[in-house]
Amino acid sequence: MKIVVLAGGISTERDVSLVTGSMIYKALVNRGHEVVLLDVYLGYEEENYSDIFSIKRDWSEKIGAISSQNPDISQVKAMRKDNPECAIGPHVIDICSQADIVFLALHGQNGEDGKIQAMFDLLNIKYTGTNYLSSALAMDKAISKEFFVKYDIPTPKGITLVKGEQVNWSSFPCIVKVNCGGSSVGVYKANNSKELTDALEEAFSFEDRVLIEEFIEGREFSIGVIDGKALPIIEIAPKVGFYDYKNKYQAGSAIETCPAELPEHVTFAMQESAEKVYEALRLCTYARIDFRMDSNYNFYCLEANTLPGMTPTSLLPQEAAVIGIDFEGLCEKIIEISMNKYN
Ligand SMILES: Nc1ncnc2c1ncn2[C@@H]1O[C@H](COP(=O)(O)OP(=O)(O)O)[C@@H](O)[C@H]1O
Ligand SMILES: [Mg+2]
Repeated sequence: MKIVVLAGGISTERDVSLVTGSMIYKALVNRGHEVVLLDVYLGYEEENYSDIFSIKRDWSEKIGAISSQNPDISQVKAMRKDNPECAIGPHVIDICSQADIVFLALHGQNGEDGKIQAMFDLLNIKYTGTNYLSSALAMDKAISKEFFVKYDIPTPKGITLVKGEQVNWSSFPCIVKVNCGGSSVGVYKANNSKELTDALEEAFSFEDRVLIEEFIEGREFSIGVIDGKALPIIEIAPKVGFYDYKNKYQAGSAIETCPAELPEHVTFAMQESAEKVYEALRLCTYARIDFRMDSNYNFYCLEANTLPGMTPTSLLPQEAAVIGIDFEGLCEKIIEISMNKYN
């Protein structure tokens, strides 16, 4: 197949997306596909793109590792020769139109939030992953929470605040997080009201809508769902602090165990809950659902990720490996189930 792997962008998860993209690119090349890896924001500036799939080059050669901090987007914007405020780079649409399918390796805003999906629907470009509406629902943590409550899916108690609104919260420790973030960028733990004030100030520098949630002391899990069916559960145990940006992407920062060591009935209940989240948020194809669990085995859903990290050591690929699906096979499977959307 002719496949464009679309990555990069200008969200806070740009670097993670580029690594996800380069890994998917390599896997699909190994499987014999004709693949182009494209940065959705920087695009392709040369004019010779009419037969881009026949250009022989390694499209992933310039992509580095994920640093310990999220990237400086102003530096990326300075590289754009045309309009830096346009989220779609030169020739991206024309190149994607030549593909049989676009593999979305984007994370965060303008990629995971449904906007690209809606645009591709209008342009008749096929893409991997769930549709625009479920992408938008899952990206918005406050709206997702309303769905979890409506469908009896356990979720931490919390409130939503809009910038400038009076804060009425007195239970500590708590978590402050931006409404549409990802990769733990804009997520803070506050142990008292002074830390809460500071955390809110930080969070409001990213977004105008922020959540405060009760802090669920205990363990952390994530569950991939493919085509409506839950994968084995993975447990993530950061060595220091919570599962923040650094602990997510610096090798060795967290111990990951799959299948997670849990009583059978708890495993079953959490997997069932992940499948319920998938249905409640109208998800299709695949997603990864995050949970916390207290010492009494009460689990709480934090959020659904519609374009989860996809390097061979990311959580969802580790879960798939446990049931015998290797990374290349997983990339192929995602294409296959995504094509089914169009039948
Ligand atoms: N209510 C909570 N209790 C305890 N830890 C939390 C809570 N909410 C978030 N966290 C921690 O912050 C991390 C990021 O939060 P999450 O809601 O998954 O946002 P995202 O992954 O989109 O940045 C989680 O993986 C978890 O470690
Ligand atoms: Mg998360």
